[in-house]
Amino acid sequence: MKVISNSVSMQKLMFQTKLSKKSIGFVPTMGALHEGHLSLIRKARKENDIVVVSIFVNPTQFGPKEDLKKYPRPWKQDKKLCEFLHVDYIFKPEAKRFYEEPYLTYVNVEKITNILCGKSRPTHFRGVTTVVTKLFNIVQPNNAYFGQKDYQQSLVIRTMVRNLNMPVRIKVMPIIREKDGLALSSRNQYLSEEERSRALSLYQTLLYGKKLYLEGLTNPKSLRLRMYRFLQRSIDKKKDKIDYLEIRDALTLEIAKEHHAKIVIAMAVFIGKTRLIDNILLG
Ligand code: PAJ
Repeated sequence: MKVISNSVSMQKLMFQTKLSKKSIGFVPTMGALHEGHLSLIRKARKENDIVVVSIFVNPTQFGPKEDLKKYPRPWKQDKKLCEFLHVDYIFKPEAKRFYEEPYLTYVNVEKITNILCGKSRPTHFRGVTTVVTKLFNIVQPNNAYFGQKDYQQSLVIRTMVRNLNMPVRIKVMPIIREKDGLALSSRNQYLSEEERSRALSLYQTLLYGKKLYLEGLTNPKSLRLRMYRFLQRSIDKKKDKIDYLEIRDALTLEIAKEHHAKIVIAMAVFIGKTRLIDNILLG
């Protein structure tokens, strides 16, 4: 396994790889790798000749009051995990050189980035689409792997790739959870023991919603209200805060109406100071 931090070297190397007709599978990450990331890497390993993982805590997708500085960076452990999974290259750029001054160019997907997570994180998706475009241009993957955990992100990336004719296939993999249902996230490390147990309320609310839905409560407004109340009861009102709980069309992210066949129920909740997200697809 090779670790490369220079974008030009990486791009040249990948160009050579493509010339030799080898397929490239790419897993973009911000590091602090857990089983969720590893599931993407394993899938990439199965489906491609060469596997590239990027590890980059991307500053442009963090808001000014967010956790960029304290975001976990366990580099040695990440490297070991990648080695263990037979990754061929880790691309680990440095922020200063990656966004070399004067840095003036951004990629923006409209409309679907202003809702859900985009509402409380207004510059977040612009940062994501910009970094992913840069990474795609450098790594030139045939296949790129994302997690359903960040459902809105996966739709934003799919839209960008389709709209801009990017020559890459996007694959979205299921959410990996702890035994008790908590979705794995690098940010779970921030949780105290007490917060960790309150964090279960996200998944429990999704399961409650799924149960109601399967019992026939398919009207999104009523379903949302029941779920919202359930969630409110399971968190600590003084310490936690619901950012959103919404039911949307799974393909367009429009607010779900009764006739929508496939819906996504998505939520973001601050457990203490830690913002957690989760979602479920139904229908
Ligand atoms: P990061 O949060 O490190 O996640 C990298 C990839 O792992 C994302 O596609 C995410 O959806 C997936 N992932 C995270 N937790 C998961 C889980 N529990 N189950 C399955 N997949 C999971 O998402 C980002 O980084 C960044 O925005 C990035 C795309 C790298 C751009 O900077």
